[in-house]
Amino acid sequence: MNIDKKTYRLKPQVKIENLLPEIDQKKDCQRIIDGLLKNKKSIPSVYFYDETGSQLFEEITRLPEYYLNRTEKLLLAEVSTQIADGIKDIDIVEIGSGDCSKISILFDSIPAINRKTIRYLPIDISQSAIQKSANNLIDCFPEIEVHGIAANFLDQIRLPYQRKKRLFCFFGSTIGNLSRKKSLNFLINLKENMEPGDRLLLGLDLIKNPKIIEAAYNDSQKVTEKFNQNILNVVNQKIKSDFYPKDFNHLAYYNQDYCRIEMHLKAKKDLMVSSPYLENNIWIKKNETIHTENSHKFSPGQINYLTKKSGFEIKRKFFDPKQWYSIVELTKR
Ligand SMILES: C[S@@+](CC[C@H](N)C(=O)[O-])C[C@H]1O[C@@H](n2cnc3c(N)ncnc32)[C@H](O)[C@@H]1O
Repeated sequence: MNIDKKTYRLKPQVKIENLLPEIDQKKDCQRIIDGLLKNKKSIPSVYFYDETGSQLFEEITRLPEYYLNRTEKLLLAEVSTQIADGIKDIDIVEIGSGDCSKISILFDSIPAINRKTIRYLPIDISQSAIQKSANNLIDCFPEIEVHGIAANFLDQIRLPYQRKKRLFCFFGSTIGNLSRKKSLNFLINLKENMEPGDRLLLGLDLIKNPKIIEAAYNDSQKVTEKFNQNILNVVNQKIKSDFYPKDFNHLAYYNQDYCRIEMHLKAKKDLMVSSPYLENNIWIKKNETIHTENSHKFSPGQINYLTKKSGFEIKRKFFDPKQWYSIVELTKR
């Protein structure tokens, strides 16, 4: 499989466009270095998702503690007939599509005759995830045309020509990985890419008992630990550094002030890291942390604020019976 060509074909109904080579590699490396040189070190969470990272994330979604995936899927299964009602002649654009397992629930609720009229456009930074999931999807829904886009959804949402109405989907509470300000800007930008009448389905994890939330990011099988440590392998690849992931402990806790899970890597001992991109080595003290991810949680009031402030109209809101998760359906007027 040639992953370097900009556009290549897999199964006949699948086309994948690769916008990743357009990302400025210098800027990419600079972002990582800037984060590592800060007083409070950090690495942007987008670097979790190389092939190993995507596989580990899929494993996380199957863990008993990781209620997010299970709850969103059950909720989607419950409401998908309402959402799917009348869906035909439409482009479905999924942002951060991952393993595409959630969109399959929606496709299941669309009659086969209408599915034939749908084009599905998954967008993800992980080229391997997009290839694998697009091929798997076609095995189950061979009548759907798939046009995958390997791209950064923060600054590369550039869709093919609009031939139809669009339904955008942003599941997995991935919006919670952005800061509150960035999530608002992201929604505003997304709305700019939409036409009046287009819809957005947004999955959001709700504020709940912190113990339940913390357990989801501290699983007993330590898959989340491996996922967290793997970001250093991606960093090593990008900036040719010599991090040894096992030198760090996984740390994930709920920050009440910001209503978010914070994931960090905590140094087990004093460390020195070098990279040809760095003038001086980086020194990391024992117990010093590198902040790798935020996962913001939402109250119904915050959801209203975020969606209205970004100029969307709330069409419907769905909650699971425990009020742990919400899917909101938004439209652009
Ligand atoms: C939390 S996972 C959710 C995956 C899937 N939507 C789900 O609900 O299971 C986030 C997904 O977004 C992708 N992703 C993260 N940051 C991204 C970015 N800046 N641009 C494109 N994709 C990104 C990851 O590769 C991953 O598949």
